[in-house]
Amino acid sequence: MSRISKVVTVTTLMRMKANGEKIVALTAYDYPFARLVEDAGLHLILVGDSLGMAVQGLTSTLPVTMDEMIYHTRIVARATEHVMVLGDMPFMSYQTSVSEAVYNAGRFLKEGGAAGVKLEGGASVCDRIRAMTEAGIPVQAHIGLTPQSVHQMGGFKVQRDEERLLADAIAVEAAGAFSVVLEGIPAPIAANITAQLKIPTIGIGAGPDCDGQVLVLHDMLGLNDRHRPKFVKQYAQLGDLASEALRQYAEEVQNSTFPGPEHCY
Ligand code: KIV
Repeated sequence: MSRISKVVTVTTLMRMKANGEKIVALTAYDYPFARLVEDAGLHLILVGDSLGMAVQGLTSTLPVTMDEMIYHTRIVARATEHVMVLGDMPFMSYQTSVSEAVYNAGRFLKEGGAAGVKLEGGASVCDRIRAMTEAGIPVQAHIGLTPQSVHQMGGFKVQRDEERLLADAIAVEAAGAFSVVLEGIPAPIAANITAQLKIPTIGIGAGPDCDGQVLVLHDMLGLNDRHRPKFVKQYAQLGDLASEALRQYAEEVQNSTFPGPEHCY
């Protein structure tokens, strides 16, 4: 993938959809990985509330707070120049009222250095999307399997109600969303939604016909030893590499082969 020389914006992503160019997105939560994503020339970093599971050792995203999201978004924004950075609105940061939603979305731009936000929901959050967009905040919607509604959905389940999914997608586009994440949706349904929308769809567990793809960084790099959903492809086993390095370090300290003369003053 050629390195991106320009800053990726909402306009870039819209143009990519129009030209049939795939959008490549990943999550990131810290400086070193955000730099690697930037250097690999990806288009979009989502500082996801998957932070809870990938980094904080939680079993859901529900406990993640606004302050934690702002902290990680600021670090990722500091590490990047060209890739577009979006902050993910955590559970209860936008559900209670439109004004709280706009205030919290604004924090991602003012304090976090993000270029926009993502929130979960379709028709039910359109008043939030509209108000944020009117305030000049680019919004990415997220429909299908929405992890913040895990209890309502009865688990992390593939969503198959095509009529409702399409209605949600059309509603968020009409409300002003610049893009929509399609998660845990059968590939033919995601393909149909993608064909019907002018805004780019970013798929995760939604098949190959979305306008782009996103994965959780720790899942695709093999840094997550817990449940791995079917849609995750592991591109590296960094967890195994790290374990081996740690074992070797422990052994070398214990048998006094580290530090060697080259590490001494
Ligand atoms: O929280 C997250 O990382 C997400 C993406 C996986 C879409 O919502």
